[in-house]
Amino acid sequence: MSAAQDGLDFDRVIPRRGTGSLKWDAAAERFGAEVLPMWVADMDFAVPDAVIADLQERLQHPVFGYPGNEGTMLQAAADWLAKRHSWRPESDALACISGVVPALYAAVRAFTRPGEAIIVMPPIYPPFMTAVEDNGRKLLLAPLIADDTGHYRMNWDALETAVRQAKLLLLCSPHNPVGRVWTAEELQRLGTLCADAGCVVVSDEIHADLSQHPHYPFPSLFPRSILLSSAGKSFNLAGLGGGISVIPDAQLRRGFLDELRRSQIQHTNLFALTAMTSAWRYGTEWQAALRQHLSNNARFIADFLAEKLPEVGYHPPEFGYLAWLDVHPYGADAVLARRLLQAGLGLNPGPSFGPGGEGFVRLNFAAPRSVLEEGLNRLRQALHR
Ligand SMILES: Cc1ncc(COP(=O)(O)O)c(C=O)c1O
Repeated sequence: MSAAQDGLDFDRVIPRRGTGSLKWDAAAERFGAEVLPMWVADMDFAVPDAVIADLQERLQHPVFGYPGNEGTMLQAAADWLAKRHSWRPESDALACISGVVPALYAAVRAFTRPGEAIIVMPPIYPPFMTAVEDNGRKLLLAPLIADDTGHYRMNWDALETAVRQAKLLLLCSPHNPVGRVWTAEELQRLGTLCADAGCVVVSDEIHADLSQHPHYPFPSLFPRSILLSSAGKSFNLAGLGGGISVIPDAQLRRGFLDELRRSQIQHTNLFALTAMTSAWRYGTEWQAALRQHLSNNARFIADFLAEKLPEVGYHPPEFGYLAWLDVHPYGADAVLARRLLQAGLGLNPGPSFGPGGEGFVRLNFAAPRSVLEEGLNRLRQALHR
């Protein structure tokens, strides 16, 4: 592929209003005013050309019955894990899911009973907490700890106490929104702690492909664990749904697959199967170019803030496109929300990520540079008032 192909030009502005987009079309309703949307985690980029071509080819056939090619997608997923993350699970270990969040919810039901405790490390992607609470389980929080530079680490004291009270831990690896790609040492320590206590780990690795550091699939270190993922974030296919679970341990897998079946979320739809297979087969070059663009954007944010908003705390994320900004010097959350709205900028408020999110906002920088620059100028305007 050459950079001339649409799919590799990450600075091309693609208007998304009027496409039924949550990020763009539902933003005014959500925020109460028109904003430049830099919130929910999808990207303003075209997917790889190969994905479009394969979807178009499938559309040429006018019948859209139940798909029977889940095995093809799972094979592409296994090949991708081997290529991208140097780990090849046995093909038995993989299964389809209807989405990562539904599978997180299912894991909660599969491995705990109502009223039991489940460990979650906030600030974190909100469905980790709602999966526990909506299912009538008890949230056991082990909040992450940040140092002065905004670099987060796990809270080992809290985790050591928590694993004695919980049978399940929901891990976000890499961790949205704080930008960490957990190292092999951190994962080893966590896995050993949980294994010794008999606490099962469910690892949501949906952002892993966009790591700027080596990423270690959790079950590659501890086979008695559950990996959930999809091409939704890393190939911008979130609207299609679907995904995979990877569980090397046969007994654990049976327990999880039984719950998927009881909840009837053990399938991935036709178009997601087509798109994900294509992305995993042909997306290597596109994704490498994307990671470069995102890394450049992350640096651009650092330079902008250092020059124009030096009081904003920012540690460039180790993966993906989510900047976790410490804006507490500029006022209380409610005041900030109002100022951002006045400046026409739509960001995720930090408190929505649970304890530890107060005084923060999350900015999605998966955008062309010109759009990112506009967003940062609006941020400056908001914080300067
Ligand atoms: C950590 C994490 N898991 C899961 C999802 C969504 O997964 P799905 O759309 O497959 O339910 C997101 C979306 O932002 C996410 O950040």
